[in-house]
Formats: sequence, C-alpha cells, structure tokens
Amino acid sequence: RLDVQETFHDILFPGHLHTQESLQRAVSFLFQDTDILIVSYPKSGTTWMQEIVTLMSHRGDAHINQTVPNWARAPWLEQFYSAAVLEASTSTHRVITTHLPHQLLGPALQGSKAKVIYVSRNPKDAVVSFYHFHKIANFLPEAGTFPEFLNKFLKGTLSYGSWFDHIKGWTSQMAVMDNFLHITYEEMLMDLPGAIRRLSSFLQCPLAEDEVKSCVQHCSFSSMKNNKMVNYTLIPENIMDHSKGSFMRKGKTGDWKNMFTEDQNQYFESVFRSKMQDCALEFVWE
Ligand code: PPS
Repeated sequence: RLDVQETFHDILFPGHLHTQESLQRAVSFLFQDTDILIVSYPKSGTTWMQEIVTLMSHRGDAHINQTVPNWARAPWLEQFYSAAVLEASTSTHRVITTHLPHQLLGPALQGSKAKVIYVSRNPKDAVVSFYHFHKIANFLPEAGTFPEFLNKFLKGTLSYGSWFDHIKGWTSQMAVMDNFLHITYEEMLMDLPGAIRRLSSFLQCPLAEDEVKSCVQHCSFSSMKNNKMVNYTLIPENIMDHSKGSFMRKGKTGDWKNMFTEDQNQYFESVFRSKMQDCALEFVWE
C-alpha cells in the first residue's frame, strides 16, 4: 500500500519516500559549512523557497528551474533518494530541504556553519493546505473530515509530527545563531522583492535590481503553477491524483476562513494559546 507510514522517534513519515535508514542517515548527516538548508513544516512555503534559492544562486536565470525538478536540485534530506542526489552534486553550495523537527536534526547541525532558512506559515492556512494536499497525495493517510484532520493537527499526530514542536524547536534553539534566518510565507507574499533582498544578504549572494526582478517574476505563483519542474505534475497520477486538485492550489493568506467554522476557530485559538504561551512569535492571519 502506498500510504503506509514509517514511524521514527514517534513521528509518522510517508513510507513511500522514507525508510528507517534514510531517516537515520538524515539525523546523523554530515553538513558542510557551505550547505544551504531549507527547513519547514509541510505546506509552509517549502517549494517556493526551493525555487527562490535556486533562482538566486543563478542570479535570476530560470534555466535550471525550468529544466530540473525541484527535488533533484534541493532534495529532502530525509527522503531515501537524497543520498544519491547529494553525492552526485557538484555545486559549491548544496541546497538541501527538510521537514524534520529540530529535536531530530539539531544534533547534526551543532557546530555547523551551514546556512539554515526556516520558513513558517500561519498554522491555520498551513493546516488547510495540508488537508487539501492529503486529498491528492496518495502516499499520505486518508484525510478524513476536516474536524478530524484539525484535531490530529492540533494533537501533533499527523505525518511529520507537531506543528507546535516544529516551530518552537527551530525558532527557540536557533534564533541566536547568525547562520539562521526565519522568514514567513506571509512576508514573501506581502513583499517578495524585500524577502529576496533579505535572503540575498543572509546568503551573501548580492543581486542587482534586475536580477531581483527576474527572481520575482520566475517564482510568482502563476510562473510556478505553470512550471512542471515544480508543480508536481511530473509525479504519476497513482501517487498524486491531479484530478482531485493541484499542488499549487491557491497561494494565498487567509484561506482558512473558507474552511474553519466559528467553533473550530475557537477550539484552535484555545489550543494555540496554551501551546504557544512560551513563544513570542507574531503571526499574520489574513
Ligand atoms: S510541501 O508539500 O510541504 O513541500 O508544500 P509547501 O511547498 O511547503 O507548501 C505548498 C503551499 O505553498 C503554496 N505556494 C505558493 N504560494 C504563493 N506563491 C508561490 N509562488 C507559491 N508556491 C507554492 C502552494 O500553493 C501551497 O499552498 P496552498 O494554500 O495550498 O495554495
């Protein structure tokens, strides 16, 4: 069965993409100081950041973005194929992606100067996006009803674990490090050129204004939706059922309002308040 999940340190991971060996290899991975690591909880802007970083490292030239699938140019560390991709990489700055929580990956990063970009999204939109993604991704368990799904999200029992542990782990443990940048989906949506300039300074990859413009143009929602190297239409229909929806679904903030009832919102808010009381992060909800 395609939707069998692999349990690793009490967290579920899709067995279609992960094995005990691949997960174990990830948590003991030897990072190079020149590596760029994109970290996110699912549906928080991972693919967008993969696109931005690839474009930036080619000064806005979209050739690679339009000819190489995102998973081959910024592989997920914990997925089984990444070992071969990383081994074959000739790039001076390997771009690596991960959904692993800090409690699992932190030890491997200790002492490393690899640059870590943490992308977060307001969790109401992330859970809605994740719910729709479960409907098209046959390697994920049945989504069930939205209330059931929301409950699992708030309990932290969905695949990839708890959103709360993820964001608190990464931001509290890494915030003081100068090789760590926290950027939000909402910030990218509100001011993409500004977000790209912030990233370019963090990655020490200076860009001319026309190069920033080119990056912005090629990583817009509509460019990415139409680029088969990044919209997942290369994935066979039995694995991702494109007849049920698109990976590049809406690309907006505030879609949770079309899904949450008033009761669900209140329930969410109360769990959020109690789990985030030790976290001072501010969120943009719409
Ligand atoms: S995954 O499966 O974890 O890699 O998903 P991830 O890439 O993190 O998140 C997918 C959501 O990001 C949206 N997206 C974008 N929004 C705006 N602009 C651009 N360029 C863009 N690229 C991807 C994508 O549409 C998913 O969000 P929803 O809300 O479902 O549309």
